[in-house]
Amino acid sequence: MNRIPDNVTVIKHPLILRDMSIVRDVNTDTAGFRSALARIAMILAYHSLAELPLKEIRLKTPIQQAKGHKLDTDVIVVPILRAGLSLVDAIINYVPEAKVGHIGMYRDENTHEPVDYYSKLPPGVDSALVLVVDPMLATGGSADDAINFLKQKGAGNIRFTCLISAPEGLEKVSRNHPDVPIITASLDEKLNDDAFIVPGLGDAGDRYFGT
Ligand code: PRP
Repeated sequence: MNRIPDNVTVIKHPLILRDMSIVRDVNTDTAGFRSALARIAMILAYHSLAELPLKEIRLKTPIQQAKGHKLDTDVIVVPILRAGLSLVDAIINYVPEAKVGHIGMYRDENTHEPVDYYSKLPPGVDSALVLVVDPMLATGGSADDAINFLKQKGAGNIRFTCLISAPEGLEKVSRNHPDVPIITASLDEKLNDDAFIVPGLGDAGDRYFGT
């Protein structure tokens, strides 16, 4: 990839570099993987929510009347199962009222194409900020499918957040969905012949759930 697409933000932070090294390391156990991923997820969530629209409110401090703010949009988090579940808590920590939709998908080991097996969305995807989360963007097939599905359901304000991405997946999703900002903690080198991200971290779902 010659240049990073305009809709892609690769978050730079020393703690991300430190924690990405922990999640990449084949010798990191399940507990270490989970805690490092959770720390990266907080930084990703913070950046994914940076442009939330606000409404001005009036409030009363113990001293006097003051101006304040509340969120001016509903937030719906949509993890792509399974591995996407690992990024949900970070968003909910910042937006406790966020609703959660689920899209179940796994990647066929031979064709590398996504296979859908479940979906359940809360009402309101047409007006909410919809944050699709999945640790890995490899070929981009799963993200592309999930975003297409959400657009069919009326979603118009979608963001995609992932831990690690390959140039091939970023190009595919950016080409098909230039309106969808992508926030990632790492842009890796390439995909290998099995469509695994290189150098990558292996299979995020297996490492997070210990399977
Ligand atoms: C992984 C990952 C993404 C997908 C990425 O899921 O969590 O959903 O593959 O690949 P793609 O960009 O080429 O579509 P996996 O199939 O391992 O399922 P899991 O989440 O149940 O582990």
